[in-house]
Amino acid sequence: MRKKVLIILMAMIICLLNSFLTAAQVNTQVYSKNNPFYILVNKQNGVGKAYKPSDLVIPNVKFMEVGLLEKKHMQSTAAYYLKIMFNQASKQNIHLIAISGYRSYSRQNTIYNNYISKYGEAYTEKVSAKSGHSEHQTGLAMDISAKSVRYHLTQDFANTKEGKWLAENAHHYGFIIRYPKGKEHITGYMYEPWHVRYIGKELAAYLYINGLVLEEMDSFFEKQDDTKLLADEGTSVSNEVIPSKSEKMDKQIGVPEILQEEVFINIQP
Ligand code: DAL
Ligand code: ZN
Repeated sequence: MRKKVLIILMAMIICLLNSFLTAAQVNTQVYSKNNPFYILVNKQNGVGKAYKPSDLVIPNVKFMEVGLLEKKHMQSTAAYYLKIMFNQASKQNIHLIAISGYRSYSRQNTIYNNYISKYGEAYTEKVSAKSGHSEHQTGLAMDISAKSVRYHLTQDFANTKEGKWLAENAHHYGFIIRYPKGKEHITGYMYEPWHVRYIGKELAAYLYINGLVLEEMDSFFEKQDDTKLLADEGTSVSNEVIPSKSEKMDKQIGVPEILQEEVFINIQP
């Protein structure tokens, strides 16, 4: 009798332990995927009309245009790492120029509709996101160019020393080339060597090393520990550093809702 009670008790303890472990695993997974920098915005996954990062700032980097434009803003962490990336590039005589970052839902709508009226739907679908489906609305993306291509957003950028540097080094700073060549069937967009997206250096290194796009990030969550080691190689950028208050701009400053669409004018139909 005593033996029977003991066996039942042991079985209950094992069950309890098992459920604790499962809960811990599930939580870890949920926590990882809930990292706001892993947000997946594409043709299938949109953000709402009202989505706007609460901490938009203007990164302290060189822009093509002057003035406090909406498109100069980025989410504060992304802005901080963009600045580090630009600084490190310039130390190697690589002069990157920022063109376009954050876009509101309504501005993306204007851009998309302009593409439609100029180039038609089939082409537009390959180069421009519908409003609510652009990464630019997250504040985590920046379009980058260089003087060598006259600050255009063109695939020729990939053949410049700046474009090559960006493709080879962006992951050290937590960025990926979001729409790479050869992955058009997955991303749904034409090759954009100028569009970088901040996701944090661990996932960025993982995707870079494995030749994956954000849509293929799932395997990262199974191999997170290995990736940490790889990400730490070859970079001194620390995730501990956060932007200082002085880097934050007043979000209320005049943001002109003008259409001055750099992508629109520079992509060949
Ligand atoms: N050009 C990218 C896909 C966008 O419109 O967000
Ligand atoms: Zn872009």
